[in-house]
Amino acid sequence: MHTDRIMQLALDMAGLTEVPEDTQVYVPGKITKALVCIDADTGLLSIARDLGYDGVIVHHPQGDEAMLNLHLVMNRQLLTLTKAGVLEDEAREALRSRQFGVERNNHMRNWDYMPSVARLMRMPFMNIHYPCDLMMERIVDVHVQQRLTETGPAATVQDLTDILLEIPEFAHAKTRPAVVVGDPAAPAGKVVTAFAGGTNGGSAVVEAYWRHGVGTVMTLHMEVADILNLRQSEVKGTLVVAGHMACDSVGLNALIRVLRANGLDLTPMGGIVPGV
Ligand SMILES: [Fe+2]
Ligand SMILES: [Fe+2]
Repeated sequence: MHTDRIMQLALDMAGLTEVPEDTQVYVPGKITKALVCIDADTGLLSIARDLGYDGVIVHHPQGDEAMLNLHLVMNRQLLTLTKAGVLEDEAREALRSRQFGVERNNHMRNWDYMPSVARLMRMPFMNIHYPCDLMMERIVDVHVQQRLTETGPAATVQDLTDILLEIPEFAHAKTRPAVVVGDPAAPAGKVVTAFAGGTNGGSAVVEAYWRHGVGTVMTLHMEVADILNLRQSEVKGTLVVAGHMACDSVGLNALIRVLRANGLDLTPMGGIVPGV
């Protein structure tokens, strides 16, 4: 299967019509048997060749435009923010500082290191980020909202983390969903699943949700400095970090199911936990 076809199947899965800013084919080519991983390094490319794989599909951006434009895909968090009731101007403002940090950090990095290695090896190499994260956000959110409705308005934050553990990837992951701000025994209130869109939006984004009636925000991960900020915040609310590898595995397993159904031979590894 050509890398372009793989990309198209990923876009179709997520209901996207264009390749998002953080997703890219670095070395195009035909793949029959690929390693699928959350991260990659040059060793992974070399191992893939040694073990007879003819392609590598990674989740996180590996260089080039996909890495340099990661901050742009964060604009897609505006959809989740405004849907939850945050005004668009306030949502943009809340995103700004984290977006600035991501842009400046990636600007420092060597964008061609990994792509150049894959080119030298003539190894078809691509990353699929936002399409997988969007699928993952939907899968988790549908499950969580349905189970919260069944539990009723008294559902606690602890109930919410228990509900997350009903999803196979969360049950299989070594990390557990963690309540990093707030009380597990408190009511969860309105819950927002803020997973897709580059990376987490930082403390300002979580506060924006809280300010507009969201009781509990779920993110994949959150930096310690942001967690400490939020614990001191005048706006009160709960933050659950669901777990990075558990969440990313949900999106990658969805993609793997689609690609396998279309005949690709895939080996998930490097942090992808089973989805069944
Ligand atoms: Fe992800
Ligand atoms: Fe990730």
